[in-house]
Amino acid sequence: KDSTYEKILEMNIRAARFYYENLKLNKEKLNYLLERNLDIKTIRKFGLGYSLDSFTSLLNFLKKQGYSEDLIIKGGLASKSEKGVYDRFRNRIMFPVFDYKGRVIGFGGRVLDYSKPKYLNSPETLVFKKGTNLYGLNFVLRNGSPKDLIIVEGYMDCISLHQYGIDNAVASLGTALTKEQAKLIKRYCKDVYLCYDSDEAGKAATLKGIDVLLSEDLNVKIINIPRGKDPDEYVKQFGAEAFIKLKEKALPAIEHLIIAAKNGKNFNEPRDKSRFVKEAVSILKLLKSEVDVHMYASKVSDMTGIDIAVLLDEFKRSNTDNK
Ligand code: GTP
Ligand code: MN
Ligand code: MN
Ligand code: MN
Ligand code: MN
Repeated sequence: KDSTYEKILEMNIRAARFYYENLKLNKEKLNYLLERNLDIKTIRKFGLGYSLDSFTSLLNFLKKQGYSEDLIIKGGLASKSEKGVYDRFRNRIMFPVFDYKGRVIGFGGRVLDYSKPKYLNSPETLVFKKGTNLYGLNFVLRNGSPKDLIIVEGYMDCISLHQYGIDNAVASLGTALTKEQAKLIKRYCKDVYLCYDSDEAGKAATLKGIDVLLSEDLNVKIINIPRGKDPDEYVKQFGAEAFIKLKEKALPAIEHLIIAAKNGKNFNEPRDKSRFVKEAVSILKLLKSEVDVHMYASKVSDMTGIDIAVLLDEFKRSNTDNK
């Protein structure tokens, strides 16, 4: 079993090299990445590649290197149907997924047009467990231990930020941040910035991510990318300094949650105001220290004009209700 594990890792490196060589030989596909503003150095560093528009090219390549069909399927690089065994990744830009040690544990593949699914990832394998890894962490750790980490959603967000010198970005890949990922972060630092897309999916994922990160006792701040963009698009358009300014303006998670709760509510409407106060009070429960509770209760009081004593009373009451 152990040797299967090692063999899959070794096979993945061969596959990544194969995809990389395909990309180098194919001007049109390479141009896709260049047009997306990636430079050659970045493409090489992240080992990006291209899977040919063929059902058997990787399969035949790996078989020639002595890997069995069985292992290639186990490693998630090929699938089996009634018609036979065929390459999982076809006609996609390939992103090797590294673990924190830099081992290739799987792949993500992006279409070059608008077809679906936009990204196809490796299935769960012996070496690839979803939600336990953070994409880009191996590159972050090359620079010593990070002061803080920036969590983004996607491959391109992470890669772009690194290209612009923001070398502490990692991607959670897919939108739901997991407890395992939060624990992995905690091994390296306490301060994390969530920087998800500013679309509806990203906003919802931010709220869930905050919960997960706070419950691991991390210090969480939210970087707000304006105007429906994602970090890749933002840094490409406005540059690294502008991004760093956004990071400096990042709000503590609690403030972000309070503002999100206020969103769409009209405080001239008693029902809206009352709903907001209840939501704000439940947000205060996420705080670990009494001092913080008072500080944020005072902000909520300023926002609503409701006496802080009333808010704290409600806070205590809802706490005892839950016990
Ligand atoms: P680009 O369009 O290449 O810039 O990708 P993106 O990262 O901006 O994509 P998006 O914001 O739509 O999604 C964020 C991340 O979610 C991606 O990087 C993928 O990891 C993942 N994702 C997006 N679409 C799919 C999909 O169709 N299937 C799967 N499994 N994951 C996806
Ligand atoms: Mn730190
Ligand atoms: Mn998105
Ligand atoms: Mn994007
Ligand atoms: Mn995006």
